[in-house]
Amino acid sequence: MSTHASQSPDETESMTDEKLLILGKLARGIAHDLKNLLAGVQGNTELALREYKNERLARKAMANVMLAARSAHELIEQISAYSRHDNIPHKVLDLREILAFTERLLEGFVSPAVTLKVHVPDEPVCVLANASQMQQLVMNLCQNGLQALGDKGGSLSVRLGTDASGERACLEVSDTGPGIAANILPRIFDPYFTTKELGLGTGLGLAVVHKIVQDCGGTIEATSTPGRKTTFAIELPRSHETPVPEAPMPTPEDYPQDKKAILLVDDEPIMRGLGMDILHSLGYRVSVAENGSEALEMVKRHPDYFDLVLSDSKMPEMSGPELAEQLYAIRPTLPFILVTAFNDAGTEAKLKEFGVTEIVQKPFLIESLARALNNALGAANKTAG
Ligand SMILES: Nc1ncnc2c1ncn2[C@@H]1O[C@H](COP(=O)(O)OP(=O)(O)OP(=O)(O)O)[C@@H](O)[C@H]1O
Ligand SMILES: [Mg+2]
Repeated sequence: MSTHASQSPDETESMTDEKLLILGKLARGIAHDLKNLLAGVQGNTELALREYKNERLARKAMANVMLAARSAHELIEQISAYSRHDNIPHKVLDLREILAFTERLLEGFVSPAVTLKVHVPDEPVCVLANASQMQQLVMNLCQNGLQALGDKGGSLSVRLGTDASGERACLEVSDTGPGIAANILPRIFDPYFTTKELGLGTGLGLAVVHKIVQDCGGTIEATSTPGRKTTFAIELPRSHETPVPEAPMPTPEDYPQDKKAILLVDDEPIMRGLGMDILHSLGYRVSVAENGSEALEMVKRHPDYFDLVLSDSKMPEMSGPELAEQLYAIRPTLPFILVTAFNDAGTEAKLKEFGVTEIVQKPFLIESLARALNNALGAANKTAG
């Protein structure tokens, strides 16, 4: 017999003892995960420093540092996706693209005992959502499926389609793992509910999935036949608009030949140093300022020297958006890129009003920064000539 659970919008009231216990357990889980990831960063960096002459080893160690950093980022995203109450931007997305990306990600670490099947229709299935959240949603469900299959293996299938009316997008993730017992099923969407061992799960995966589905005005349902199969079925309102294509990645020929001058503003010495090295490596001239007023002074003193300002968002005294606004008043054509973590800076539209040309989310890949620089400098050239 199969049982099912649908979303449980259990909004919290007061802090009960049980909740405090859960919170303690969660904090221990997160601390454990972060400690492991930091150990990975520290150990591999040390190894790379010792072995920098052995290119193969050093590269491998640095790739592992990158991997650990990505995992730490994912963990933080998971926690903040759940606690976040502000609105993150939604765009029209073709879910087929999200699934294609998931498939590529999963291919790397699915064990040979698992058969992964991804079915997508020939026609686009678009929804209004946030791409990284949708990615997170699909990954969380797939990860649960894979964990359920374990070493024994089985099949994990992801199926995208629409309902009969064509007005709703339907996404199904199912696995042939051990299933979910009927007494547990009603609790799986609860934040911090997990049956996994310390360090293997924080119990936030499905709570985050549930919240993302809710934010998109959709529904989710879990059905399980213990010993045979578990299916998560999501329905989201379909959008009939066409997605806006992403700008193509820059090629080496797109990189600046004439060494544009960038003013880098960041109060964190480590980020400033890293930013400077990245910009040099991309072929720019770099000047640095430690805060907003110093940056303003520098632009006032050399009004025609800088081609672009690249600034952190959260800084004491003057924030990145405030700096953008003040610079806009004196040099409205100077491109401004804001580097921001989560949503500490306000909505995209508001920031553009302040004179922010491009927004780069932290932590970023060098490629996305390169693309933002290119876009901002390209747009500035167009208005100038
Ligand atoms: N496909 C599945 N098969 C069997 N059990 C599942 C499946 N998906 C979820 N569960 C059960 O639901 C619980 C909650 O899942 P959820 O994704 O929220 O947290 P988690 O996987 O335990 O931890 P995290 O996702 O934070 O790493 C799991 O611990 C597991 O007991
Ligand atoms: Mg999970």
